[in-house]
Amino acid sequence: MARKLAAGNWKMNGTQAALTEAQALTGMFPAPSVEILLCPPTTLVYAMAEALRGTAIHTGGQDCHAHANGAHTGDTSAELLADAGATHVILGHSERRADHGETDAIVRAKTQAAVAAGLVAIVCVGETLEQREAGETLDVVRAQLQGSLPDTIEADKIVIAYEPVWAIGTGKVPTLDQIGEVHADMRKALAGRFGDDAKMLPLLYGGSVKPTNAAEIFAVSDVDGALVGGASLKADDFSGIISAL
Ligand code: G3H
Repeated sequence: MARKLAAGNWKMNGTQAALTEAQALTGMFPAPSVEILLCPPTTLVYAMAEALRGTAIHTGGQDCHAHANGAHTGDTSAELLADAGATHVILGHSERRADHGETDAIVRAKTQAAVAAGLVAIVCVGETLEQREAGETLDVVRAQLQGSLPDTIEADKIVIAYEPVWAIGTGKVPTLDQIGEVHADMRKALAGRFGDDAKMLPLLYGGSVKPTNAAEIFAVSDVDGALVGGASLKADDFSGIISAL
């Protein structure tokens, strides 16, 4: 059985003052039965990792460069994130794919770099509304998985997040059957790649997860947790999701 993970993606939100939300979570979950991760903006990674040092809550980045270092103004490498205290990094989020033209090949190179730096890579996949309406969802997700994962990677170094683009920040959530269909298909595809190890690989659902719908989503087969945006910003909201896992 895969380990359970509740991951919060703060996106481009969070000043120093927001660290109190992370600290509040540590008080609520001193010894959680699931893994908890917060991914603040890069400017807060070090401060959050320091604030959470010695607690059960991990800190992650939201992206990394494919190279370890060099002349890449404004970018952050996996090595630098790890040095700042990150243990995970989100890669290939649909907002990165849309805003920065990230292709599967780019995500693949970043995933390789993240794992080389000792980070767990949370690789995001998911279809657009047009692709879903065209009946292409499973093909799109399989192609993204195939294209975004390096050949040499091991299953225990990655997490997959299924995030339908049309469900992100919209309040729209696929039906439980639709979530289950995609997660079962991802598990099957990953078993073809990793064999039995695919059973241990956490598959997260992401897209408008709230305390009010988390329990029913987590009850879907092959859903091992969530990648949460808006509802991870406040400890009171995120704790409701974590408790449902
Ligand atoms: O990474 C998180 C996802 O984009 C979901 O965002 O929970 O605000 O819909 P959301």
